[in-house]
Amino acid sequence: MEKVRLFDKTFRTFIPYEKIMNAIDDVAERINGDFKGCTDIPVLLCVLNGSIMFTAELMKRLEFNCEVVSIKLTSYEGTSSTGRVRQAMGLTSDIKGRRVIIVEDIVDTGNTIVELKQILQDAGASVSVVCTLLFKPDSYRKDFPLEYVAMQIPNDFIVGFGLDYNEIGRNLKDIYILDE
Ligand code: IMP
Ligand code: MG
Repeated sequence: MEKVRLFDKTFRTFIPYEKIMNAIDDVAERINGDFKGCTDIPVLLCVLNGSIMFTAELMKRLEFNCEVVSIKLTSYEGTSSTGRVRQAMGLTSDIKGRRVIIVEDIVDTGNTIVELKQILQDAGASVSVVCTLLFKPDSYRKDFPLEYVAMQIPNDFIVGFGLDYNEIGRNLKDIYILDE
């Protein structure tokens, strides 16, 4: 089992790249089933920085015209949520009247989703749905439904495939879990 060292912590392989690709194939197929043939141009909202890799892989598989818009939110320090969500960069385009697919790397407490839903409502989106690569059901405390979940994981800290530990580890191809 491959191990990586990031600052003071060691991580071990948890979800290999091939398994991530299969999960993205499945979630993209579901989204295509719901959106293919649509006459509007839905917006894929890439939540920076964590969703960069997932957004890229997901959009390659979508079979309808869509537009990519970004926003940058931060809430994590080290290996846990601060409970506060900060908007480091606002929406990069006007999304008034548009259907928005929020593309998240991971939904943990759900604080970020609640904040995003509010931001999108204030910006006049017609509807917003959530597509997340990973979901920690044991940590989720909110009522918003998560329409598209690619993989569910236990309540552990992970990195790789876009996810970071204090901003490093995003470039790892596989997903790694804290090795204690
Ligand atoms: P939430 O607001 O608690 O749902 O957390 C969402 C954000 O926290 C995600 O978009 C990630 O950026 C970050 N996050 C949550 N869990 C992890 C993790 O295990 N590793 C790295 N980042 C995480
Ligand atoms: Mg994120």
